[in-house]
Amino acid sequence: MFSPTQRSLWTPAAPHIWAINATGSAAEDYVSVIRTLLDQPRWLEAQYLYDEHGSHLFEEICELPEYYLTRTENSILAECADQVISAAPVECIVELGSGTSKKTAHLLRQQIKQRGRGIFAPIDVSLSSLEASRDLISEEFPELTFNGLCARYEEGMSGVDKTVPKLFVFLGSTIGNFNRSEFSIFFRRLSQSMGPKDFLLLGVDRVKDTPLLEKAYDDSRGVTAEFILNVFRHVNRRLGSDFDRAKMRYHSWYNPQWQQIEMYAISTAAQEIHFPSFDTSFVWEENDRILVEISRKFEPRRLQSQLQFFGLKSVGHFTDPREWFSVLLFRKSQI
Ligand code: TRP
Repeated sequence: MFSPTQRSLWTPAAPHIWAINATGSAAEDYVSVIRTLLDQPRWLEAQYLYDEHGSHLFEEICELPEYYLTRTENSILAECADQVISAAPVECIVELGSGTSKKTAHLLRQQIKQRGRGIFAPIDVSLSSLEASRDLISEEFPELTFNGLCARYEEGMSGVDKTVPKLFVFLGSTIGNFNRSEFSIFFRRLSQSMGPKDFLLLGVDRVKDTPLLEKAYDDSRGVTAEFILNVFRHVNRRLGSDFDRAKMRYHSWYNPQWQQIEMYAISTAAQEIHFPSFDTSFVWEENDRILVEISRKFEPRRLQSQLQFFGLKSVGHFTDPREWFSVLLFRKSQI
């Protein structure tokens, strides 16, 4: 399963789950947080959204009536799984940022049905969600070999053996949460990690009417606002800083020019933010914004042609009757 050069870097973390020894230090976190907070506009990396509370809130978002993405993608996958699996003759399904792998079950079911066996290798930074996924998957699909990788996408992707034919799966329009530079870095790495017989299945949310999009990211119960503002509690805990939750509010809108939802925290009163272990501070002025998250929306054709530059050739496109969401299949091509 692992490429020969990588094997020694991985150690068992739990039954059927391996981890790579590469956890960032507080000093590294500090540098990355300060770099983005002092940028213009101020922003934060998405990884800080997912502490335990954040992951829990995220699961809640997926169930919200306004949040159509998860349901729509799931229905597309239920429909197209047999076509995807027959088009991609693979031995191994690698899922990036899998959570509990609920939607991927459609693909795994088809893999078993069509080939009778396979390896499922989910990659996730959260050990607890890998364990949940392992328990669920091995119960429903005892024929599958489960190899969980506890790591970030980059490390996980490049750890997997190139000679085993694989289907990489990246769902939930997570690609939309990368900014433009993260986007190209990600696809370059992914393409480099793919062997000549590999495929990629990508789930992306599409450009559509603004009100529909805006409601999905500003729900009536305020779960999304809570999820976004929770990032500061997490940063405070990691870095000992003192962002004041009572002095900020959530604001989001769809930026049509950049085709993305932008999710901000806006300071409602000037506050000085201290980082005591590093003996520094900065002033977050009243009404100044911090961009906590973006969610880009895509035009499938345009995305397909962009991904050609990364050696990915489009071989399938599945959508729902309202054309709100797309599941795109690519195969590795020589560039
Ligand atoms: N990738 C999904 C999306 O953009 C899920 C997601 C990531 C999300 N970050 C979020 C949803 C912040 C709401 C708020 O929709």
